This record gives sequence, C-alpha cells and structure tokens, in this order.
Amino acid sequence: MTTVRLNSSDNVVSFDTEALVVGVHTGPDGLRAAPGAEGLDEALGGRLAATLGAMGVKGKPGEIAKVPTFGALTAPLLVAVGLGDAPEGDYDPEVLRRAAGTATRALAGTGRVALALPAADAERTAALALGGLLGAYSFTRYRTGGEQTAPVDEITVLSRAEGAEAAVGRAATVAASVSLVRDLVNTPPSDLWPARFAEIAEQTGAEAGLSVEVLDEKALKEGGYGGIVAVGQGSVNPPRLVRLAYSHPEAAKTVAFVGKGITFDSGGLSLKPTASMDWMKSDMGGAGAVFGALVAIARLGLKVNAVGYLCLAENMPSGTAQRPSDVFTSYAGKTVEVLDTDAEGRLVLIDGIARAGEDSPDLIVDVATLTGAQIVALGWRTAGVMANDDELREEVVRIAAEQGESTWGMPLPDELRKGLDSPVADIANLHPERFGGMLTAAIFLREFVPEGVRWAHIDMAGPAFNKGEPHGYTPKGGTGAITRTLVGLAEQYSR
Ligand code: BES
Ligand code: MN
Ligand code: ZN
Repeated sequence: MTTVRLNSSDNVVSFDTEALVVGVHTGPDGLRAAPGAEGLDEALGGRLAATLGAMGVKGKPGEIAKVPTFGALTAPLLVAVGLGDAPEGDYDPEVLRRAAGTATRALAGTGRVALALPAADAERTAALALGGLLGAYSFTRYRTGGEQTAPVDEITVLSRAEGAEAAVGRAATVAASVSLVRDLVNTPPSDLWPARFAEIAEQTGAEAGLSVEVLDEKALKEGGYGGIVAVGQGSVNPPRLVRLAYSHPEAAKTVAFVGKGITFDSGGLSLKPTASMDWMKSDMGGAGAVFGALVAIARLGLKVNAVGYLCLAENMPSGTAQRPSDVFTSYAGKTVEVLDTDAEGRLVLIDGIARAGEDSPDLIVDVATLTGAQIVALGWRTAGVMANDDELREEVVRIAAEQGESTWGMPLPDELRKGLDSPVADIANLHPERFGGMLTAAIFLREFVPEGVRWAHIDMAGPAFNKGEPHGYTPKGGTGAITRTLVGLAEQYSR
C-alpha cells in the first residue's frame, strides 16, 4: 500500500528523494516548466527545456520523460510529466490528478517519489495526492515469482498550501476506497461470490464503523426479494443482499445508494458469447462503488446519514436457473416477466431500490454496469446518468465532474415504456428494440422507485473496467469508477 505525505520544502534541488517529478507545458516557444519546479533549471545549467526538447518531449498530457540528473540534484532521477497548455487561471484539478498518476504509474519499482507539481491551494494539493496514489495502484495477488515490480512506496507532495493537511487526508481515504473497489473488481469470480463479498463487507464495513446487515438466500425468499432470488437461483453460490448503514448525530439528510453486484454474469440461460463473457467478473462494480463509498463516508465522518445496498448474485445457467418467460414477484409487489436472463442487473436492482425506500432517503442513487448500450452511446470512459428529477440528474453530473469522473446526462423518453409491456405480467425485463437500450433499462428501473422519492441511475458498464491500456491514474482492469462521485454526493448532502 502506497503512503502519501506532505512536505513544505521549496528547495527541489536538494530535496532528498529517489525521483523528483515536475510538470512541463507545451508552448508557442517550446517547453516551459510548470510551477513547483523553481530553481531546477538553474541547477541544471539552464539546459532543462533544450534537453527535454531533444528527447522529443512536447509537454502534452500523458507524456512522461525520465532524465538522469548526474549529481546536479539530490534526486538521481528527474521525471517530467506533460501538463498541456498552461492554464489562464487556476489549474484544472483533473489535469493534476492525471499527471500525478501518469508519473507514479511510470515509476513502479521506485521507493520514494516527490511531486514538485503546481500545488497552489489545498484542492490542487489533494488532487496531486489522489492522482499519485491511484496511479500507484497495482494488483499482484495472483502473481507468483519475485521479479514483479512493486508499486511506489511513498509519495511526497511538495506544497505550502493552507489546509493541505486535511485535504490530503481526505484524498488518502478516498484513494483507499477506490483501491478497495479495484481489488474487488479484479478478484476472479472463483474467489468472489455473493457470500464472500458479503463477508468482506461485514468485516471491512464494521472496521470502518458501519453497521452491516446481510440477508441470505432464505431471508431473501421469505422477505419477498423476488428479483434477487430469481437471478441467484441458477448458481450454487446463493445470492445476498447487504445493507450498510452510517449515521451522524448532526445529519440533516439521508442518502441511499444501491449497487448492482453480479459477481459473475454468464448471461444465465440467455448465455453470453465467449468474447462478451471473459470480463464479466466486473459486473459487481456498482456494488463495489457503493461499498467503497460507504467505507469512505464513515472514515471521513461526514455529517450525513448514508445507507448502501449491495445486490449480490451470480448469474449462471443450470437446471435451477430462471428460464426466459418465467415470472417473479418483486419486492415492490409488481410482477416481472423475464424475457432475457442476461438483462439480470435490473432484476436485482429493483429489489434494492424498493427496499431503500424504507430508509426514507432524500434521494436514491443506483450504480450499475447495466447495459452494453451505454458503451455504444457514450464509449468506454463516460457513464450515463438518468433520473426521475432533472435537477438531481444535473447535480450528479456536476458532482461527478468535480471529482474528476466523466458522466453525461441522458433522457428517459416516456414513449419507450410501452415496449416493456408484458402479455402476462406487470412488466417485461426486455424491450423488443435494442436501440436506446441504456434508456429502456432505466425506464424499467423507474417503475420500481418508491412514490415521491428522487432517484438517479448511473450506468457505468464501460467505465467500471478498463480493457485497454492504462492512462493517467487509471490502470488496466478494475477502475473503481463512480466511488468518488458517491462520496462527493454524500459530501454535498452533509452541508
Ligand atoms: N452486465 C451486462 C452489461 C455489460 C455489458 C456490462 C458490457 C459491462 C460491459 C448486462 O447484464 C447485460 O448483459 N445487459 C444486456 C441487456 C440486454 C439483454 C437487454 C446487454 O447490454 O446486452
Ligand atoms: Mn447480463
Ligand atoms: Zn450484468
């Protein structure tokens, strides 16, 4: 686990570290060092820009160059990260997070790294800490052999900003939660089934100060959680519903989060093709985000009440699996005809959403790797946000952006509801048209939102798992997406 600390030194030349990271900007007259690197160029004989230029460095975001210092600095290695064009005013915190992450990711195997990047205020200092910590993430639990590279051990953020201590403390707490979520998403389904996830939630949740309640398959059946039971019945690993609760004596508001927690989505009897299945261990990313956020909220001691529901099931084909055309009664009392067992996320979520209504929340936000249609519409990195309240939708999108998570508001066109009519039950889980699939899934969920409750839905099928190359502070595999947005939302409702 990488640690982070603050240092107020303004002497980068003699700062004792193994790698000193500075920022460089693109510019009309070539490279320019960013704030934080003062005194450096002089120590290098005024040759920094020319040297980096000769190496082909342009100063673009994502760019990184390692330069040996040959004794000119105390640090043996100087690392230049691109920051793009110099901003007119304040730095965009996300630019700083990504740059810090790019640096720590490239420095795996280095013990001590110092970030001498622009840190004008507490918010920007915290951005460097968070990006640095997230970029240093690695998942090596399943690697044997000693030659693997360890992540950066210790990150020092150079900053003299007021209030930086508290802001960096928050960043470390949030980074720990995001890493926890990444670990869960990356864990193979052979080691993470519903009951195991529930156990981890019980243990880690209790340590963080959450009260944790777990409903097993018997309690779910008796409690009328028809959706979770139906999806889970095909697996030898039975389903669970976990309720995590945090309260603060001075809280004025209650937020409820509901996460899709399919520990493996084979599609069920509506089996997925091979190419779509091999990464479906990530289908619990929504529950992961809800869990990680609740842990962070408790550790931060926010002045809010927060409840989180993890809707956990394994979607498998078997002799006991639900069949296309089966009908179940949901927790809300409405009946659902299951036309496609691969549209299972919405079936577990509706029970969690209906149950969350009993906590009299000021809002419910569900998070799910719900549809491939999200990826078609918005790509790998941008989650879709839908809601039964336009203001809440915009609030979620704004808070996500503040936290550095990419989302986009999407509509819920009423005419799509008709396609969910079932000839036998109250509603069907599949729309005959695949167009607008992200929206029809949300329209399905909306039918189960308790009367009068503000509700938002975040579809992060793409953002939850990075199948491509690492970038910024985002590694390959589990990303921990939307965890930070949920923490930001809880902070918003704690004021
Ligand atoms: N877990 C999948 C959605 C998904 C796809 C997540 C790709 C991450 C990456 C979900 O359960 C699913 O299978 N959805 C179907 C719904 C369809 C049958 C209406 C889909 O999107 O194809
Ligand atoms: Mn599915
Ligand atoms: Zn799924």
